[in-house]
Amino acid sequence: MNSKPHVCPVWVGYLLAHPIRKLFQNPERILASHIKPGMTVVDVGCAMGFFTIPAAEMVGKNGRVIAVDLQPKMLKELKKRARKAGVADRIQTRLCSAKSVGLSDLAEQVDVVLSIAMVHETPNPEGLLGELSRCLKPEGRLLVAEPRGHVSAAMFDDTLGWAAAAGLTTLERPSIGKSHSAWLAKPS
Ligand SMILES: C[S@@+](CC[C@H](N)C(=O)[O-])C[C@H]1O[C@@H](n2cnc3c(N)ncnc32)[C@H](O)[C@@H]1O
Repeated sequence: MNSKPHVCPVWVGYLLAHPIRKLFQNPERILASHIKPGMTVVDVGCAMGFFTIPAAEMVGKNGRVIAVDLQPKMLKELKKRARKAGVADRIQTRLCSAKSVGLSDLAEQVDVVLSIAMVHETPNPEGLLGELSRCLKPEGRLLVAEPRGHVSAAMFDDTLGWAAAAGLTTLERPSIGKSHSAWLAKPS
């Protein structure tokens, strides 16, 4: 348990959504081999949609992205950006609490979950990994990336341990700038 985690302030949300971030974290490059047209994707701790909007472009007209955050202002700004990008119709925003990301209605319905720079901000990362695992379809994928500036290699190993306890296996350890990262899979 992470008793009093620091939650990313809204002003940092604007910085995280800046296109210059693509120089070291390019969403298209990071997501291309895992997100396909028609998929259902969840982006937990989506903030203003730096990963949500490219994911919505990749799932196409027949896919959907569920964008979850606990700060209303992040979701409001994400919706504005999604409208501008022409993908608002395939993004559903959800306001959650710190206790739960509120995905129980999506049990085994999700192809890909994105959890980027978010696990270390949650009070109960172990519970979070369980919730994320339960919403994945068999063979569904979870991308976990955590910032090296805030999260040590040992802390990231703990995260992978909680993911393993939730039934997820590590598929690959991609190189994502300034991050510890892993693509995980739910067994078939
Ligand atoms: C550092 S930001 C990362 C945002 C985004 N994933 C990105 O990479 O641009 C972390 C986000 O997670 C959200 N967050 C923190 N704790 C959360 C929780 N328990 N449930 C849902 N969202 C949470 C914060 O509000 C913030 O928008």
